Amino acid sequence: MEGLIALVNRIQRACTALGDHGGDNALPTLWEALPSVVVVGGQSSGKSSVLESIVGRDFLPRGSGIVTRRPLVLQLNKTERGPDYAEFMHLPKKRFTDFAAVRKEISDETDRITGRTKQISPVPIHLSIYSPNVVNLTLIDLPGLTKVAVEGQPESIVADIENMVRLYVDKPNSLILAISPANQDIATSDAIKLAREVDPTGERTFGVLTKLDLMDKGTNAVDTLEGRAYRLKYPWIGVVNRSQADINKSVDMMAARRREREYFATSPDYKHLASRMGSEYLGQMLSKHLESVIKTRIPGILTLVNKTIDELESELASLGRPIATEPGAQLYSIMELCRAFDQVFKEHLDGIRPGGEK
Ligand code: GDP
Ligand code: NA
Ligand code: MG
Repeated sequence: MEGLIALVNRIQRACTALGDHGGDNALPTLWEALPSVVVVGGQSSGKSSVLESIVGRDFLPRGSGIVTRRPLVLQLNKTERGPDYAEFMHLPKKRFTDFAAVRKEISDETDRITGRTKQISPVPIHLSIYSPNVVNLTLIDLPGLTKVAVEGQPESIVADIENMVRLYVDKPNSLILAISPANQDIATSDAIKLAREVDPTGERTFGVLTKLDLMDKGTNAVDTLEGRAYRLKYPWIGVVNRSQADINKSVDMMAARRREREYFATSPDYKHLASRMGSEYLGQMLSKHLESVIKTRIPGILTLVNKTIDELESELASLGRPIATEPGAQLYSIMELCRAFDQVFKEHLDGIRPGGEK
């Protein structure tokens, strides 16, 4: 049976193909029902670094200002063996093994839609990575929350970014990966501020504390990591990413992971928490959690899959002889995909119903 996370990934791609990515839709859509992990945080809080550590690869565009200007749906697929490779939904026949080229394509594809204007766009980029070193997981990277527009950007950018991030974190099926830097007061964290608003009981927020290594000497983040500074349902996770100097020296991601593990294992402050710290642990925990959320949401997703099939059918009917035309053919193949989801989800549902066959 196809893995649940992979299955939801395919629906997510179908949604993008249908133009369903939140925004103008007044009605509940399939997109809204899909569970996912959404990465939020202020600019420079360490979002890109956390994503790269989870993947174990250096592949995201960097730079000052607002680098992430479209949602990046990052689908990780664990394979039996290497080599690692990546594929974009907008380039279906191309397999990338050079991750510097992946970085360039993300930034080129961002510009293709936003026209190099530093504007943002809600149309997602879908990137799949295949590697034996990843867990099965889908993460959505969003523009960083910011307080001021920089040169060349419209004043509205601050609100535009917040609204886009809200579209994602408002979805009740989204898990919020809230990134806050340890060298700033948690009370001023943009990520926590937003998470507190949309998820006041902390049921679906995962707090990640970056830059533990950059805290002032003599201070530590034990109060936060043990849940006393800001309480969430799930324990906080601390990480130590590569510093800017490490990046400049191209410190290898696998070496960085090892060093991070060592940091927690030997730190007098955090040794007692070491087994639930670090980016590797974070990835594994999120993968397990996402899968269990998908399981509980299958009935709701099924209802919307069927509603989508109905809508597509009537749209096809209104097109007349559908398969002959290009939009018809596209709708038709998406509908076939939805039918396949319906089938596979029902099988999963049978597997988890009490008394159902596994
Ligand atoms: P983003 O804007 O939220 O995506 O932040 P980045 O991941 O680009 O990180 C911003 C800067 O902080 C970069 O120079 C990173 O090297 C640095 N950084 C991020 N996390 C850590 C960390 O845990 N420790 C240290 N020393 N530097 C970090
Ligand atoms: Na922040
Ligand atoms: Mg970034």
